[in-house]
Amino acid sequence: MHYIRRMRRAVCPGSFDPIHNGHLEVIARAAGLFDEVIVAVSTNYSKKYRFTLEERLEMARQTFSALRGILIEPMGEGLLAKYCHDRGASAIVKGLRSSSDFDYELPMATMNRQLAGIETVFLPGESRYLHLSSTMIKEVHTLGGDISDFVPKAVLKKLASGAPAT
Ligand code: PNS
Repeated sequence: MHYIRRMRRAVCPGSFDPIHNGHLEVIARAAGLFDEVIVAVSTNYSKKYRFTLEERLEMARQTFSALRGILIEPMGEGLLAKYCHDRGASAIVKGLRSSSDFDYELPMATMNRQLAGIETVFLPGESRYLHLSSTMIKEVHTLGGDISDFVPKAVLKKLASGAPAT
């Protein structure tokens, strides 16, 4: 019997300002579950980023350069549900660090399913990364702390190259 299996594509959306090891771990696990994962780097003009979109994309691209099936793309500032629909993705994958993450994510997951039939798959974060957030990592770095256990090499390199603090 012949049949054509539809490609399973998922989207991992976020600001990734910068990408950290918690993101990395969830994205790598998503890549094990789906044929293709798009890391969609968002832009929200009401948000102040430490890194430009190009810098956030570049750090993510360098981080995943050795892994197949992971694409890094700008998401733009539109609806995530529309972005997923336009890319032919059937699921959004998000990592959960805590019950407050879940409380925050659940209404968005329901909205995205109602808007475009996109399911959200939640992956429990790996315990050693549950405390990580891009905001905290930026603060620790700005105040002189060592963040080398928390971010991929591409991010350390970018910070060492003297990206100005904001
Ligand atoms: O890393 P972040 O900043 O928490 O990522 C947030 C992101 C990009 C996932 C969220 O802001 C988002 O979904 N933006 C798209 C806008 C949208 O679709 N809004 C309606 C949500 S139901």
